[in-house]
Amino acid sequence: MNGLEIFFAECVKAVDAELDKIIPSAESEPNRLPAAMRWSVLAGGKRFRPALCLAVGEMFGASRKSLLKTAAAMEMIHTYSLIHDDLPAMDDDDWRRGRATCHKKFGEATAILAGDVLQTLAFQTLAEDANLSAEVRVKLIAELAKSAAKMVDGQQMDLEAEGKSIRIEELETIHRNKTGAMICGAARSGAIIAGANEAELNAVTNYAESLGLLFQITDDLLDVTQTTEVLGKTAGKDAKAEKATYVSLYGLDEARKLAEAAHARACGELKNIEKETNLLRELAGFILERRK
Ligand code: IPE
Ligand code: IPE
Ligand code: MG
Ligand code: MG
Ligand code: MG
Repeated sequence: MNGLEIFFAECVKAVDAELDKIIPSAESEPNRLPAAMRWSVLAGGKRFRPALCLAVGEMFGASRKSLLKTAAAMEMIHTYSLIHDDLPAMDDDDWRRGRATCHKKFGEATAILAGDVLQTLAFQTLAEDANLSAEVRVKLIAELAKSAAKMVDGQQMDLEAEGKSIRIEELETIHRNKTGAMICGAARSGAIIAGANEAELNAVTNYAESLGLLFQITDDLLDVTQTTEVLGKTAGKDAKAEKATYVSLYGLDEARKLAEAAHARACGELKNIEKETNLLRELAGFILERRK
Protein backbone atom coordinates (compact mmCIF):
# COMPACT_ATOMS: atom_id res chain seq x y z
CA MET A 1 0.00 0.00 0.00
CA ASN A 2 1.21 3.54 -0.70
CA GLY A 3 1.03 6.38 1.83
CA LEU A 4 -2.41 7.53 0.75
CA GLU A 5 -3.84 4.01 0.87
CA ILE A 6 -2.46 3.53 4.38
CA PHE A 7 -3.97 6.86 5.47
CA PHE A 8 -7.37 5.90 4.02
CA ALA A 9 -7.29 2.45 5.62
CA GLU A 10 -6.55 4.02 9.02
CA CYS A 11 -9.32 6.58 8.57
CA VAL A 12 -11.90 3.99 7.59
CA LYS A 13 -11.03 1.87 10.62
CA ALA A 14 -11.05 4.74 13.12
CA VAL A 15 -14.17 6.42 11.72
CA ASP A 16 -16.11 3.16 11.45
CA ALA A 17 -15.26 2.32 15.07
CA GLU A 18 -16.47 5.77 16.13
CA LEU A 19 -19.70 5.44 14.13
CA ASP A 20 -20.29 2.03 15.63
CA LYS A 21 -20.00 3.56 19.12
CA ILE A 22 -22.24 6.54 18.34
CA ILE A 23 -25.12 4.82 16.50
CA PRO A 24 -27.43 2.85 18.80
CA SER A 25 -27.19 -0.92 18.47
CA ALA A 26 -29.91 -2.67 16.52
CA GLU A 27 -30.93 -4.55 19.68
CA SER A 28 -31.14 -1.47 21.89
CA GLU A 29 -34.53 -0.37 20.63
CA PRO A 30 -37.66 -2.29 19.80
CA ASN A 31 -38.11 -0.43 16.50
CA ARG A 32 -36.09 -0.76 13.29
CA LEU A 33 -34.50 2.69 13.16
CA PRO A 34 -31.06 1.71 14.46
CA ALA A 35 -30.99 -1.25 12.05
CA ALA A 36 -31.86 1.06 9.14
CA MET A 37 -29.20 3.61 10.16
CA ARG A 38 -26.58 0.89 10.46
CA TRP A 39 -27.60 -0.64 7.14
CA SER A 40 -26.67 2.55 5.32
CA VAL A 41 -23.85 3.97 7.44
CA LEU A 42 -21.88 0.77 7.97
CA ALA A 43 -22.14 -0.47 4.38
CA GLY A 44 -18.70 0.79 3.45
CA GLY A 45 -18.29 3.98 1.46
CA LYS A 46 -15.07 5.78 0.79
CA ARG A 47 -15.26 7.92 3.95
CA PHE A 48 -13.81 10.76 1.93
CA ARG A 49 -15.27 13.59 4.02
CA PRO A 50 -14.00 12.20 7.33
CA ALA A 51 -10.60 11.54 5.72
CA LEU A 52 -10.41 15.13 4.52
CA CYS A 53 -11.37 16.44 7.96
CA LEU A 54 -8.58 14.37 9.55
CA ALA A 55 -6.01 15.27 6.88
CA VAL A 56 -6.61 19.02 7.21
CA GLY A 57 -6.83 18.95 11.01
CA GLU A 58 -3.68 16.90 11.43
CA MET A 59 -1.79 19.07 8.94
CA PHE A 60 -2.45 22.04 11.26
CA GLY A 61 -1.43 20.03 14.33
CA ALA A 62 -4.70 18.72 15.79
CA SER A 63 -4.72 15.25 17.36
CA ARG A 64 -6.70 12.50 15.69
CA LYS A 65 -8.67 12.05 18.90
CA SER A 66 -9.86 15.65 18.78
CA LEU A 67 -11.01 15.24 15.15
CA LEU A 68 -12.69 11.84 15.15
CA LYS A 69 -16.15 12.68 16.44
CA THR A 70 -16.44 15.59 14.01
CA ALA A 71 -15.28 13.33 11.17
CA ALA A 72 -17.98 10.81 12.17
CA ALA A 73 -20.59 13.59 12.31
CA MET A 74 -19.68 14.58 8.74
CA GLU A 75 -20.21 11.00 7.61
CA MET A 76 -23.58 10.80 9.36
CA ILE A 77 -24.83 13.89 7.54
CA HIS A 78 -23.41 12.57 4.28
CA THR A 79 -25.13 9.20 4.72
CA TYR A 80 -28.42 10.87 5.60
CA SER A 81 -28.10 12.85 2.36
CA LEU A 82 -27.55 9.63 0.42
CA ILE A 83 -30.56 7.88 2.01
CA HIS A 84 -32.82 10.80 1.10
CA ASP A 85 -31.17 11.23 -2.34
CA ASP A 86 -32.13 7.64 -3.17
CA LEU A 87 -35.82 7.96 -2.20
CA PRO A 88 -38.46 7.53 -4.92
CA ALA A 89 -39.37 11.22 -4.56
CA MET A 90 -35.78 12.15 -5.40
CA ASP A 91 -33.43 9.99 -7.54
CA ASP A 92 -35.39 6.76 -7.01
CA ASP A 93 -32.42 4.43 -6.71
CA ASP A 94 -32.37 0.77 -5.70
CA TRP A 95 -28.63 0.36 -5.02
CA ARG A 96 -26.21 2.12 -2.73
CA ARG A 97 -22.82 1.09 -1.40
CA GLY A 98 -23.19 -2.34 -2.96
CA ARG A 99 -26.52 -3.21 -1.35
CA ALA A 100 -30.21 -2.34 -1.49
CA THR A 101 -30.99 1.29 -0.68
CA CYS A 102 -32.40 2.02 2.75
CA HIS A 103 -35.99 2.46 1.51
CA LYS A 104 -35.80 -0.77 -0.54
CA LYS A 105 -34.74 -2.66 2.57
CA PHE A 106 -36.77 -0.92 5.27
CA GLY A 107 -39.53 0.96 3.45
CA GLU A 108 -39.82 4.63 2.63
CA ALA A 109 -41.08 5.93 5.96
CA THR A 110 -38.27 4.25 7.91
CA ALA A 111 -35.67 5.48 5.39
CA ILE A 112 -36.89 9.06 5.80
CA LEU A 113 -36.74 8.73 9.57
CA ALA A 114 -33.32 7.03 9.53
CA GLY A 115 -32.01 10.03 7.58
CA ASP A 116 -33.67 12.43 10.02
CA VAL A 117 -32.19 10.79 13.08
CA LEU A 118 -28.71 10.56 11.54
CA GLN A 119 -28.90 14.28 11.06
CA THR A 120 -29.85 15.07 14.65
CA LEU A 121 -27.30 12.57 15.96
CA ALA A 122 -24.55 14.36 14.02
CA PHE A 123 -25.32 17.64 15.78
CA GLN A 124 -25.62 15.92 19.16
CA THR A 125 -22.21 14.34 18.58
CA LEU A 126 -20.60 17.76 18.05
CA ALA A 127 -22.44 19.34 20.98
CA GLU A 128 -21.28 16.59 23.37
CA ASP A 129 -17.68 16.14 22.19
CA ALA A 130 -15.76 16.34 25.48
CA ASN A 131 -12.44 16.55 23.61
CA LEU A 132 -13.27 20.07 22.43
CA SER A 133 -13.93 23.41 24.15
CA ALA A 134 -17.48 24.76 24.19
CA GLU A 135 -16.36 27.58 21.88
CA VAL A 136 -15.01 25.20 19.24
CA ARG A 137 -18.11 23.01 19.47
CA VAL A 138 -20.38 25.98 18.76
CA LYS A 139 -18.23 26.95 15.76
CA LEU A 140 -18.42 23.39 14.42
CA ILE A 141 -22.17 23.19 14.89
CA ALA A 142 -22.61 26.44 12.93
CA GLU A 143 -20.25 25.16 10.23
CA LEU A 144 -22.10 21.87 9.89
CA ALA A 145 -25.51 23.56 9.85
CA LYS A 146 -24.43 25.93 7.07
CA SER A 147 -22.84 23.16 5.00
CA ALA A 148 -25.80 20.80 5.37
CA ALA A 149 -28.27 23.57 4.49
CA LYS A 150 -26.31 24.30 1.31
CA MET A 151 -26.35 20.60 0.47
CA VAL A 152 -30.14 20.55 0.80
CA ASP A 153 -30.43 23.68 -1.32
CA GLY A 154 -28.25 22.04 -3.97
CA GLN A 155 -30.45 18.94 -3.92
CA GLN A 156 -33.53 21.11 -4.51
CA MET A 157 -31.82 22.87 -7.44
CA ASP A 158 -30.69 19.49 -8.83
CA LEU A 159 -34.28 18.23 -8.86
CA GLU A 160 -35.65 21.43 -10.38
CA ALA A 161 -33.04 21.22 -13.19
CA GLU A 162 -34.13 17.73 -14.29
CA GLY A 163 -35.21 17.69 -17.92
CA LYS A 164 -34.25 21.35 -18.43
CA SER A 165 -31.38 22.86 -20.32
CA ILE A 166 -29.60 25.07 -17.82
CA ARG A 167 -26.62 27.42 -18.08
CA ILE A 168 -23.19 26.26 -16.99
CA GLU A 169 -23.11 28.79 -14.15
CA GLU A 170 -26.28 27.22 -12.76
CA LEU A 171 -24.86 23.72 -13.03
CA GLU A 172 -21.70 24.79 -11.23
CA THR A 173 -23.83 26.30 -8.46
CA ILE A 174 -25.78 23.05 -8.12
CA HIS A 175 -22.58 21.01 -7.83
CA ARG A 176 -20.91 23.43 -5.45
CA ASN A 177 -23.95 23.24 -3.19
CA LYS A 178 -25.20 19.66 -3.32
CA THR A 179 -21.74 18.11 -3.03
CA GLY A 180 -19.12 20.82 -2.61
CA ALA A 181 -20.58 22.31 0.56
CA MET A 182 -20.20 19.19 2.75
CA ILE A 183 -16.69 18.57 1.42
CA CYS A 184 -15.76 22.16 2.17
CA GLY A 185 -17.37 21.90 5.60
CA ALA A 186 -15.37 18.76 6.39
CA ALA A 187 -12.09 20.45 5.49
CA ARG A 188 -12.91 23.67 7.32
CA SER A 189 -14.01 21.75 10.44
CA GLY A 190 -10.60 20.07 10.61
CA ALA A 191 -8.94 23.50 10.40
CA ILE A 192 -11.29 24.96 13.05
CA ILE A 193 -10.47 22.16 15.51
CA ALA A 194 -6.75 22.74 14.93
CA GLY A 195 -7.15 26.47 15.61
CA ALA A 196 -5.98 27.51 12.13
CA ASN A 197 -5.74 31.27 11.58
CA GLU A 198 -7.93 33.30 9.21
CA ALA A 199 -5.50 33.14 6.26
CA GLU A 200 -5.08 29.37 6.69
CA LEU A 201 -8.84 28.87 6.89
CA ASN A 202 -9.28 30.90 3.69
CA ALA A 203 -6.73 28.83 1.81
CA VAL A 204 -8.35 25.59 3.04
CA THR A 205 -11.75 26.91 1.94
CA ASN A 206 -10.49 27.73 -1.56
CA TYR A 207 -8.78 24.34 -1.87
CA ALA A 208 -11.86 22.45 -0.68
CA GLU A 209 -14.30 24.41 -2.85
CA SER A 210 -12.42 23.34 -5.98
CA LEU A 211 -12.08 19.83 -4.59
CA GLY A 212 -15.84 19.65 -3.96
CA LEU A 213 -16.63 20.72 -7.50
CA LEU A 214 -14.09 18.20 -8.78
CA PHE A 215 -15.77 15.48 -6.70
CA GLN A 216 -19.16 15.98 -8.35
CA ILE A 217 -17.67 16.31 -11.87
CA THR A 218 -15.99 12.94 -11.41
CA ASP A 219 -19.24 11.54 -9.98
CA ASP A 220 -20.98 12.68 -13.18
CA LEU A 221 -18.22 11.09 -15.29
CA LEU A 222 -18.33 7.79 -13.40
CA ASP A 223 -22.10 7.52 -13.85
CA VAL A 224 -21.39 7.24 -17.58
CA THR A 225 -18.06 5.42 -17.69
CA GLN A 226 -18.25 2.91 -14.82
CA THR A 227 -20.33 -0.19 -14.10
CA THR A 228 -22.99 -0.61 -11.42
CA GLU A 229 -20.93 -3.43 -9.94
CA VAL A 230 -17.82 -1.31 -9.40
CA LEU A 231 -19.74 1.78 -8.27
CA GLY A 232 -22.01 -0.11 -5.88
CA LYS A 233 -24.80 2.17 -7.15
CA THR A 234 -26.74 2.21 -10.41
CA ALA A 235 -24.63 3.40 -13.33
CA GLY A 236 -26.17 5.33 -16.23
CA LYS A 237 -28.98 6.75 -14.12
CA ASP A 238 -28.28 10.44 -14.78
CA ALA A 239 -29.17 10.29 -18.49
CA LYS A 240 -32.35 8.32 -17.72
CA ALA A 241 -33.45 10.91 -15.18
CA GLU A 242 -32.41 13.71 -17.55
CA LYS A 243 -30.16 15.17 -14.87
CA ALA A 244 -28.13 18.26 -15.59
CA THR A 245 -24.53 17.02 -15.32
CA TYR A 246 -21.10 17.99 -16.63
CA VAL A 247 -21.39 15.13 -19.11
CA SER A 248 -24.84 16.13 -20.35
CA LEU A 249 -23.76 19.75 -20.80
CA TYR A 250 -20.22 19.25 -22.12
CA GLY A 251 -19.74 15.64 -23.22
CA LEU A 252 -17.18 13.26 -21.74
CA ASP A 253 -13.94 14.76 -23.07
CA GLU A 254 -14.69 18.33 -22.13
CA ALA A 255 -16.04 17.26 -18.72
CA ARG A 256 -12.77 15.44 -18.09
CA LYS A 257 -10.83 18.60 -18.99
CA LEU A 258 -12.95 20.62 -16.57
CA ALA A 259 -12.23 18.04 -13.87
CA GLU A 260 -8.53 18.49 -14.55
CA ALA A 261 -8.91 22.26 -14.31
CA ALA A 262 -10.72 21.98 -10.94
CA HIS A 263 -7.97 19.65 -9.74
CA ALA A 264 -5.29 22.15 -10.81
CA ARG A 265 -7.09 24.97 -8.98
CA ALA A 266 -7.34 22.88 -5.81
CA CYS A 267 -3.64 22.00 -5.89
CA GLY A 268 -2.65 25.56 -6.82
CA GLU A 269 -4.27 26.84 -3.65
CA LEU A 270 -2.03 24.63 -1.50
CA LYS A 271 0.97 26.89 -2.07
CA ASN A 272 -0.76 29.41 0.21
CA ILE A 273 -0.52 27.02 3.15
CA GLU A 274 2.84 26.97 4.91
CA LYS A 275 2.54 23.37 6.09
CA GLU A 276 3.28 19.95 4.63
CA THR A 277 0.45 19.81 2.08
CA ASN A 278 1.45 16.64 0.26
CA LEU A 279 -1.42 14.56 1.65
CA LEU A 280 -3.96 17.18 0.52
CA ARG A 281 -2.39 17.13 -2.96
CA GLU A 282 -2.67 13.34 -3.00
CA LEU A 283 -6.31 13.48 -1.91
CA ALA A 284 -7.08 15.79 -4.84
CA GLY A 285 -5.28 13.41 -7.21
CA PHE A 286 -7.26 10.53 -5.76
CA ILE A 287 -10.55 12.30 -6.56
CA LEU A 288 -9.44 13.13 -10.10
CA GLU A 289 -8.41 9.54 -10.80
CA ARG A 290 -10.97 7.65 -8.73
CA ARG A 291 -12.70 4.65 -10.28
CA LYS A 292 -15.67 4.66 -7.89
C1 IPE B 1 -21.80 10.06 -3.42
O1 IPE B 1 -20.79 10.34 -2.51
C2 IPE B 1 -22.73 11.20 -3.51
C3 IPE B 1 -22.11 12.47 -3.91
C4 IPE B 1 -22.09 13.49 -3.15
C5 IPE B 1 -21.52 12.58 -5.22
P1 IPE B 1 -19.55 9.36 -2.35
O2 IPE B 1 -18.98 9.07 -3.71
O3 IPE B 1 -18.62 9.96 -1.34
O4 IPE B 1 -20.21 8.04 -1.77
P2 IPE B 1 -19.67 7.04 -0.65
O5 IPE B 1 -19.72 7.76 0.64
O6 IPE B 1 -18.26 6.65 -1.04
O7 IPE B 1 -20.63 5.89 -0.70
C1 IPE C 1 -25.90 13.44 -4.69
O1 IPE C 1 -25.59 13.60 -6.02
C2 IPE C 1 -25.50 14.55 -3.82
C3 IPE C 1 -25.97 14.30 -2.45
C4 IPE C 1 -26.32 13.15 -1.97
C5 IPE C 1 -26.07 15.43 -1.58
P1 IPE C 1 -25.98 12.33 -6.91
O2 IPE C 1 -27.43 12.10 -6.92
O3 IPE C 1 -25.27 12.47 -8.21
O4 IPE C 1 -25.25 11.16 -6.07
P2 IPE C 1 -25.31 9.64 -6.47
O5 IPE C 1 -24.74 9.53 -7.86
O6 IPE C 1 -26.73 9.20 -6.38
O7 IPE C 1 -24.40 9.01 -5.44
MG1 MG D 1 -29.13 13.22 -6.63
MG1 MG E 1 -28.45 10.20 -6.71
MG1 MG F 1 -24.28 10.89 -9.22
